[in-house]
This record gives sequence, structure tokens and C-alpha cells, in this order.
Amino acid sequence: MCGIIGALVTDRDAAPLLFDGLRRLEYRGYDSAGIATLDGDGRPTRRRAAGKLDNLQTSLYAAPMKGRSGIGHTRWATHGPANETNAHPHLAGPIAIVHNGIIENEKPLRAELAAEGVTFESDTDTEVIARLLHRELQRGSSPEDAMATVMPRLAGAFAFVCLLAGEDDLMLAARQGTPLALGLGDGEAFCASDALALAPLTRRVVYLEEGDWAVLRRSGAEVRNRAGETVDRPEVVTEVSGALVGKGNFRHFMEKEIHEQDEVIGYTLRGLIDGLGGDIAKPSLPAMPFDPKTLSKITIVACGTASYAGQIGKYWIERLARVPVECDLASEFRYREPVLPEGGMVLAISQSGETLDTTEALRLGAAQGQITAGVVNVPESTIAREARFVIPTKAGPEIGVASTKAFTTQLAALAVFAVALGLERGALTPEAADGHLRSLTEIPAAIRTILHGPVIRRAEAIAHDLVDKHTVLYLGRGTSWTVAMEGALKFKEISYIHAEGYAAGEMKHGPIALIEEGTPVVFVAPEDGLAEKTLSNMRQVRARGGEVILVTDEKGADRFGELAEHVLEVPTVDPLWAPIALTVPVQVLAYETALAKGTDVDQPRNLAKSVTVE
Ligand code: F6R
Repeated sequence: MCGIIGALVTDRDAAPLLFDGLRRLEYRGYDSAGIATLDGDGRPTRRRAAGKLDNLQTSLYAAPMKGRSGIGHTRWATHGPANETNAHPHLAGPIAIVHNGIIENEKPLRAELAAEGVTFESDTDTEVIARLLHRELQRGSSPEDAMATVMPRLAGAFAFVCLLAGEDDLMLAARQGTPLALGLGDGEAFCASDALALAPLTRRVVYLEEGDWAVLRRSGAEVRNRAGETVDRPEVVTEVSGALVGKGNFRHFMEKEIHEQDEVIGYTLRGLIDGLGGDIAKPSLPAMPFDPKTLSKITIVACGTASYAGQIGKYWIERLARVPVECDLASEFRYREPVLPEGGMVLAISQSGETLDTTEALRLGAAQGQITAGVVNVPESTIAREARFVIPTKAGPEIGVASTKAFTTQLAALAVFAVALGLERGALTPEAADGHLRSLTEIPAAIRTILHGPVIRRAEAIAHDLVDKHTVLYLGRGTSWTVAMEGALKFKEISYIHAEGYAAGEMKHGPIALIEEGTPVVFVAPEDGLAEKTLSNMRQVRARGGEVILVTDEKGADRFGELAEHVLEVPTVDPLWAPIALTVPVQVLAYETALAKGTDVDQPRNLAKSVTVE
């Protein structure tokens, strides 16, 4: 989290470029923002503002900042409140610094410096890095030697960029655990948390590796590794587009992204399936650098919404390919000493490809000899670069913090992967695989029907009843249970109303106690083999005064409709792939409720799009 950017430019001011970069990085955090440049006398001057970037923009408009060297930051608070004092850049002597991540040994380092009489201006761990570097410079070290001394003293996952007073052609940059990319321009140099922020400035990018730090000058970058040795890191021409994504005619990015799902699922599937126009359709995934026949187990690691994609993927892979699958939250997997069998795979699912826990879980798998794989949306992200086998999703940039199209494209990619594995392992005949793939390609049309039908209008009406509720229960069975959990997550994160997703069969083992007169209960219940059982759960809810909101398909609406106060109906699709279609109404319900409550839909409080801290 936190977005960082730096620029050494030639015949223009750095601040407008830095601000534009911060706009692209705002998805990483929006608690405060700031910019520092080296002005006329070569000393860093800074401008900071609490809250969103708009506040910083007002100040920059009022008094533009001068200077050809600069750094910028957008913050997701970890140490100290989200006020102007704790906003980056931080200054220490000649140093201005911006930082992403956490210095885990901040306390002893701060105490060590305090004992020497150093005083601090902020509560941040960032200032500790700057003060350590300053101490080394005071002891007579060169900037390079100061970095070489300070880097090994810092524990945690972080990236930072520094400017030095009087050094108009120098930037120090470091990466350990959170991303940082260097950008090489024509007599100019840049760095940023991601290639998206660099794309309008240059396409020539060097990705730092773990433990690397760099001395960046307009003429280029010198990179050192953890051991202090000079290393060559390859320069790549990034494919990331620099075009700023707009909202079009939609009110929010989330609304736009919900409406893009038919299209982006279509792109994702077209990239992964061959022969749709011919006799037999078959998967065309990137070459598998492993033998699918001998794959012993797949361990899926992911966080949040991506982990729900993994849970649905588990059902599909086990059913179609007969490989055991375990789906683990990456933050738990890392610390529970998992047993990973020989010939197994660790599969990371991530929109951003940068989520720290997911990246580290993948690395843990690699260290234990597992085949590493990723389902990733952002090309060139850390997971996309580190996994040996990558299935790309083609959701395009997802700007709304609440994930929508990334989730459904992850499902589409996992569906094709399940079919491909089934085919390769002989668990599916080519005809059966063809049938599954063809029914999968009907999903985009079903989603179009949902988005152009009565679901949105109905969800809007339901939302007006939900805004005053304190809790909403989401229930389902099988893959619909996972859709229920995703629905509850989406609902609470943008409406700030408590919501809980539960397996319908477990309701009577606890959550039923929550139900009283008027408690809303969203049932995700298509007509499938479990319908009869879900029906009795609905009756139990009704008997206690609960209000049923039913998310179902056409047949389910006929069967359960009379028990529900409200019905959000999707077209009947292959039951195997139904969770993709059933997700859309729960997204819309969350969106409409947030809208009715007037919350900040695209940038909900306390959240950030890319979680690069633990
Ligand atoms: C919820 C949401 C998060 C992300 C999670 C993983 O709407 O967006 O739960 O799914 O932070 O992010 P990625 O997929 O980037 O690893």
C-alpha cells in the first residue's frame, strides 16, 4: 500500500508529472498525499495534505512547485494517524523520503537514534530510515555508502525513494518485499510503485528485485543487490498502457466495472480457448511447465475476493480434473507450516499480482519445490514475473477498490484451467471438455441479460430497505456458499453495514440466532441438486420473521420465489458455471446499497486496492 514516485527531469518541472503519477497510484491508499522537490537553492521543499489527492491538488494549483527533481507519495496509514504531520515526504537533514511498507524493527532503531539525541517530527517508521541515512551522511559517508550501511539494518517489507539536498541529479531507491520499478527516459529518470504510474513517462522499465537498491541519475541507474554487489537487472519495454482510465457515463468505477464484465470475461475466454468456431473447442493455455498427469495436489493461495475465486476453482478442479485442491488464505498459509507434497503446485490468485501475503505464499511454495503458478490480472506484476506458469485474466485496469470484474475473470480463467487439467489427465473426454467450454462461453451473454434486465432496478428498491439494517446474512450451499461470502464481503466493504456469509446448512448451528423480525437474509440458491435442502433453510428463516432476498436462476425463481420478499433472477446457465452469473446480482446489491447510503463507493474508508503490507 502507499504509492511512491520519483522523477529527475530536464527542462520541465517535476511536480505536475509527480502529481499525475500519484493519480495513477491513488488506488494504493488515499489517507494523505505529498510531494517534495529540490527548489532553487537545492534544498527539499515539500507540500503535503491530509485526505485525498484533491486536497493536495488545491494547494498545488494555488502555488505551483518548482524544481526538476522530486518525489511524491499517496498514503495508506500504518504508523500514526492520517494527518498532515504524518504525511510523506518526510525530511531529515538534507534528505527527503517517501516510503511504502513497514519497518518492523522501527522501535529499537528509533530508540537507538533517540539515545543519540535525534528528535523526530512524526510518528512514522519512514522517518527512522531518513534519520539513519542522515546519520551516515553526517559521519562522512557518500550517499551510496550510507545506503549500503542502512539497508541491512532495516527489517520488514518496504520500498522507499530519497532525494538529497544539493544533489539535483540523484535519487536513492530501494525495494525489499514491496514493489518498485525504475523508469529510464531520454536524459531523464523515474521510479514508481508500479509501471502504470511510469507508463506516460517512459516505457523502458527496470524491475528491482528483493533486497535491491539503486542510485538513479538522469544518465541511468546503478543497481546493487542485498550483498552490496553491482548487478545488472534487465531493462524491459513495458506493455502497460499509460492511458488514464475514465468512468465513461457511469457514476463510479465500480459501476462501470460491473458493466464491463460480459466483455472482459469474453476477452479472457477468447485468450484461453481455441476452436470455438470449429468442431471441437479446446483450452489453449500457456505451455504447462509441468506434467499435469503427475500433479499430486494444488494449493491455492489468495486473499479476500481472490480467495473466494480460489474456493470456487477448488470445486471445479476437483470435479473436472480429479486433483486434490486445498484453498488457503495466503496470510494463514505462510505461518502454518503447510505440508506440500512432492509434485504439487502452489497457485496464487491475484488481481494486482502484488498482494504481499499472496506473493510471499507463492515464494514459500517455490522454496519448498512446488510448481508455482498464478492467475493474475496485472501483467509484469511481481506474481506474474515470479510464477512459472501464468494464466492471465483480461479484466483490464480495475480501479474501484471493491473487486468485481477481476473476480469474475478469475473464475473464467480457473474454469478453463479445470477443463484443461481434466483433459490432460484423462478425466474428461475431448467431447466433454468441448461441452464445458461451449457452455462457459455462454456466460457473457447471460451477464449482458442480467445487466440489461430488471435486476438493477430491483436491487435499487431492495437497497432502500437495507440502508437502515444493522446486519445482513448471506447463505448458500456448494459454490453458492462462496458467492454468498463474496456478496457479504462486497456488501460490508462499501456500505459499512455488517454482513456475514455462511454455509446454509450451518445456519442452524449458530447464525440462526441473529434472525429476528425483519432481518434480511440473502439466499444464493439456483435450482441445483441442493435446492430441496436450501428450501427448508428458507422456511426456517421465514418462520423466525427473516426477510428473504433470493438470488437465483429462472427455475429457482419458480421453485423458491413464493418464499422470498425479493427475487434477483439470472438466466439459467450450465449449473457448473452458475456462480459466475450469480455473482453479478450480489455485486449490484452491494453497489446500490452503498449508493443509497452515500458512502464513497470507489474508495471506501480504510481500504486500498493493493495490499502490500501484512
Ligand atoms: C475485495 C477486494 C479484496 C482483494 C484482495 C486481494 O473487494 O478487492 O479482498 O480481492 O485484497 O487483492 P489481489 O487480488 O490484488 O491480490
